[in-house]
Amino acid sequence: MNHENRGRLTKDGIRLYDNEDFVGMLAAGQLAARILDAVSAHIFVGQTTGAIDQAITEMVEDAGAKSATIGYKGYKHASCISVNHVVCHGIPSDKTLKNGDILNIDVTVIVNGWFGDTSRMYVAGKLARKPERLIEVTHDALMLGIESVKPGNTFGDIGHAIQNFVESHRMSVVRDFCGHGLGRVFHAPPNVLHYGRPGTGPVLKPGMFFTIEPMVNLGRPETKTLADEWTAVTRDKSLSAQFEHSVGVTEEGVKIFTLSPDGKFHPTYT
Ligand code: MF3
Ligand code: CO
Ligand code: CO
Repeated sequence: MNHENRGRLTKDGIRLYDNEDFVGMLAAGQLAARILDAVSAHIFVGQTTGAIDQAITEMVEDAGAKSATIGYKGYKHASCISVNHVVCHGIPSDKTLKNGDILNIDVTVIVNGWFGDTSRMYVAGKLARKPERLIEVTHDALMLGIESVKPGNTFGDIGHAIQNFVESHRMSVVRDFCGHGLGRVFHAPPNVLHYGRPGTGPVLKPGMFFTIEPMVNLGRPETKTLADEWTAVTRDKSLSAQFEHSVGVTEEGVKIFTLSPDGKFHPTYT
């Protein structure tokens, strides 16, 4: 047994972190959340997604942290910005935002070796009723998933809570992308599915760190990836939304590492 790697692994290969590791995850998660709070000021009609990403790059640098996405599998940006029917992994570009566009901004930072990964929805200009409903349902689905995180429950319980809620609103859960374990690495076991059956999948244990990041479509769940090999879109061109938190399982239940310091995570648009 090597002492560099003394952390415990479950039979499913899921790392169980120690109590003191929650401190490092909280610092990383809070920086990512602070950046998403500050991003609001950069969202407006006529703005390019490239300029938003540039602002994020500078915020990461100014905080003395590192972007987890720059250089990840050849990706070149500090964020993914997914507009309208883009499901995830939208690449920042010189395209401008139009009135009523909805967008997900996903930021992952590394602070002292710990990864904080979070995303939320924004709007340029005036939000129409249908996208507003989509955003509300997606947010509430994530929070319902998080409410089912506690020792003894399973990953299937999380997926079921999300799927059940989304489908009760006649929207669909994307199957092609999932949440993931994280901690001192970006992506680790398990795959955190946003659909499933109660009581199935690995059992949740204190010290597990992972993301929950449901993508919800107004239309059908199928996606396709564009020729740039990153951008995932809905096959039927319907609108898609996503929210993501990084969480840790505690003895009592759950710790959300990426809660907004300004309470801006919930999509209450005035
Ligand atoms: N942050 C994304 C996630 O939630 C991953 C983005 S990888 C990138 O897992 F390379 F596209 F940035
Ligand atoms: Co993630
Ligand atoms: Co993310």
